[in-house]
Amino acid sequence: MSDFIAMRHVTKNYAGVQALKDIDFQLKRGEIHCLCGENGSGKSTLIKILSGVVKPDEGSEITIDGRVFPHLSAHEALEQGVRVIYQDLALFPNLTVKENIAFQSFSEKGSPMVSWNQVEKTARGAMSLIGLDLDLNRLTGTLPIAQQQLVEITRALIGEPKLLVLDEPTASLTRKEVNALFEVIFRLKSRGVTTMFVSHKLNEVFEIAERVTVLRDGERIGEYVPSEIDHKKLVFLMTGRKYESALPSPVDPLAPNLLEVKNLTRNGEFTDLSFTVKKGEIVGITGLLGSGRTELALAIFGMTVPDSGSLLLEGKAIKPRSNSDAKKLGIGYVPEDRLRQGVIQAQSILDNMSLTVLEKLKTTLGLLDKQKMKTDAQTWVKDLQIKIPSLDSSVKTLSGGNQQKVVLSKWLATNPKLLILDEPTIGIDVLAKNGVHDLVKKLATKGIGIILISDEIPEVLSNCHRVLVMQKGRFVHELVPGPDAERDLLENFNLS
Ligand SMILES: Nc1ncnc2c1ncn2[C@@H]1O[C@H](COP(=O)(O)OP(=O)(O)OP(=O)(O)O)[C@@H](O)[C@H]1O
Ligand SMILES: [Mg+2]
Repeated sequence: MSDFIAMRHVTKNYAGVQALKDIDFQLKRGEIHCLCGENGSGKSTLIKILSGVVKPDEGSEITIDGRVFPHLSAHEALEQGVRVIYQDLALFPNLTVKENIAFQSFSEKGSPMVSWNQVEKTARGAMSLIGLDLDLNRLTGTLPIAQQQLVEITRALIGEPKLLVLDEPTASLTRKEVNALFEVIFRLKSRGVTTMFVSHKLNEVFEIAERVTVLRDGERIGEYVPSEIDHKKLVFLMTGRKYESALPSPVDPLAPNLLEVKNLTRNGEFTDLSFTVKKGEIVGITGLLGSGRTELALAIFGMTVPDSGSLLLEGKAIKPRSNSDAKKLGIGYVPEDRLRQGVIQAQSILDNMSLTVLEKLKTTLGLLDKQKMKTDAQTWVKDLQIKIPSLDSSVKTLSGGNQQKVVLSKWLATNPKLLILDEPTIGIDVLAKNGVHDLVKKLATKGIGIILISDEIPEVLSNCHRVLVMQKGRFVHELVPGPDAERDLLENFNLS
């Protein structure tokens, strides 16, 4: 395979933050190439340079099909067939699915007349490439996040892509959708399209990559063929460290029930759900997209009202009717879609981290204890290994994964009795993931009850005391993690 794209001496400095240092990076025509590295290692920056969104520093050089550019404009990148699906969704929530998918191709042509037939045909054609069948007239913002991601992928397939760049496209997709996406990538490959892929899910990297480039702290560590390295080696290359994770400490058999859920039903969402969470217990809930897990979480957190059934917290019946009710009762919820629900991008890291705990930080005079705010925030930065220039920088200057960690710390700091975590490690790199898992296990030893909702089977199996499998709004299975648990789930529930 010949070199299709070669980036040489690529350097980028963001006002003092050295995001990339003298990077060499090659893509061969038609290959599937994964870019690996911890949060903040420079992956998205490299991608944005390739798509013309970010201008590299002087001395950088990008060669595409033999043509040399000191830097690319967004227009040039598009012309060269570069299509990027960014980490943070770039859709217009108030436009319909078909408008989102086909918008760009029509706005480019500059014609003032839009043929709706044509828009619909283009959108439908692109959707069929990945076997997607969505209501074209639905407002995109009303779709679940995974489907929004698929809309974004569909949009990138319009025109003649030569290079498809996916910056963590699978973060909120379930296995079934990931498989569909991988099929698309293989199909495109057979037509000579190159794919560049970023994922923190290393099993996916090993499944799909033909070559892997590893970045660490803005430097290129090397380029590898996956068959020559294994999971552990890759983690070591990315982090420069070794890591072993521990199983959660056993739950005290005498621990009282913290939460009891009895026959909880919300019509159309979930049916007759009963389970308990003891103090100090970590209960995992897994299942495919649409199984009703998030809906259950929302009901416990008071965001929706169940039609029947009851909730007991520490033996007392509770009926939270809003998230502030739930918070007062000591229930915390880290939403799946937390980057949109959870942070104020333009505000500083310190302010974001302090938002949920302002009450606690007030001194007796009703003033904010700035010093305590700072020391608490510094502790979170250390515990979660958040990579930030300073506590006063705005959240929007952080890499995607580091933004996730800021949101997570914000909720953990409220010190709840019951903590519901919905996909807590989406988009978080491997070491930080372990950091989050360790933290969850540490919280449990303090007596906090935890519900951990996740699609990642290894995540629930290695961090939970018990795992419930949900399908179509019902619990269909319960298991205790052990040697056969993974096979059990795979064989019986088609989860992986
Ligand atoms: N607009 C910006 N202004 C200042 N610093 C920035 C900006 N964008 C990125 N950075 C910094 O550049 C570094 C690399 O960020 P980048 O987004 O490329 O990381 P990444 O490898 O994509 O991480 P992640 O896995 O978390 O998405 C980080 O230290 C980040 O804080
Ligand atoms: Mg990134």
